[in-house]
Amino acid sequence: MAIKNRNRAVHLCFLWLLLSSVLLQTSDGKSWKKHRLRKPCRNLVLYFHDVIYNGSNAKNATSTLVGAPHGSNLTLLAGKDNHFGDLAVFDDPITLDNNFHSPPVGRAQGFYFYDMKNTFSSWLGFTFVLNSTDYKGTITFSGADPILTKYRDISVVGGTGDFIMARGIATISTDAYEGDVYFRLCVNITLYECY
Ligand SMILES: *[C@@H]1O[C@H](CO)[C@@H](O)[C@H](O)[C@H]1NC(C)=O
Ligand SMILES: *[C@@H]1O[C@H](CO)[C@@H](O)[C@H](O)[C@H]1NC(C)=O
Ligand SMILES: *[C@@H]1O[C@H](CO)[C@@H](O)[C@H](O)[C@H]1NC(C)=O
Ligand SMILES: *[C@@H]1O[C@H](CO)[C@@H](O)[C@H](O)[C@H]1NC(C)=O
Ligand SMILES: *[C@@H]1O[C@H](CO)[C@@H](O)[C@H](O)[C@H]1NC(C)=O
Repeated sequence: MAIKNRNRAVHLCFLWLLLSSVLLQTSDGKSWKKHRLRKPCRNLVLYFHDVIYNGSNAKNATSTLVGAPHGSNLTLLAGKDNHFGDLAVFDDPITLDNNFHSPPVGRAQGFYFYDMKNTFSSWLGFTFVLNSTDYKGTITFSGADPILTKYRDISVVGGTGDFIMARGIATISTDAYEGDVYFRLCVNITLYECY
C-alpha cells in the first residue's frame, strides 16, 4: 500500500514537472515570458556642465564635495585611488548645445560618487529640472557611469510634466573636461514609454 502511494506520488510529480515545463517554456527555451521592447517614442539630446569647487572658484562652482574618504578633505578630489569615496552634490546648468555660455534650459540636480579604486568610475543619481519654453517637467536618471568608456547607458527611471511616467535609456558621453575643475556631459535620451 505504502509503495503504491509512493508510486502515485512519483507519477504526479513527473506529470507536474512535464506540464510546468511545457507551460513556462517559450520557443527560445527561456523559462520566462519575453516582452518585445517597444519602439522609441522620443529622443532628445541635452548637455550639462559641472564646475567642481576646488577651493578658489566658489563663485562659479556648481558642484561640491560633501563626502570624502579617510585622509582626504572636502576641498579637493582625493588624490589617490581614482577619487574613490568622494561624493559630490551638484546643481548644474543644462543647455541645448555644447556651449557653456548658452542660455540654460534647466538644472541637473543630484549627486555622483566615485566607486572604484582601480579605475575612474562613478555612480550617478540626478534629475533634469526643466522649465523653459522648450521643455517643462523633470526627468530622473540613475546608473553606473564607467567614465573612461566613450558611451555609457544609464536608466531613465521616471519623469513629470512633459515627461510624465517617462522610461528609457540615456546614453551619456563626456563631451569635454578640464582637469578636475570642469566636465560637460552629452545626454542622449531615448524614451521607450511616453504619455
Ligand atoms: C580652481 O579652478 C580655477 C578655475 O578653473 C583655477 O583657476 C584654479 O587654479 C583652481 N585652483 C586649484 C587650487 O586647483
Ligand atoms: C568663473 O568665474 C571667473 C570669474 O568670474 C570667470 O573669469 C571664468 O570664466 C568663470 N569660469 C567659467 C568656467 O565660466
Ligand atoms: C585638502 O587636501 C589637499 C590634497 O591632499 C591639500 O592640498 C589641501 O591643502 C587640503 N586642504 C585643506 C583645507 O586641508
Ligand atoms: C517655471 O518658470 C515660470 C516662469 O519663469 C515660473 O513662473 C514657474 O514658477 C516655474 N515653475 C517651476 C516649477 O519652477
Ligand atoms: C542620439 O542617439 C540617437 C539614437 O541612438 C542617434 O541617432 C543620434 O545620432 C544621437 N545624437 C547625438 C547627438 O549623439
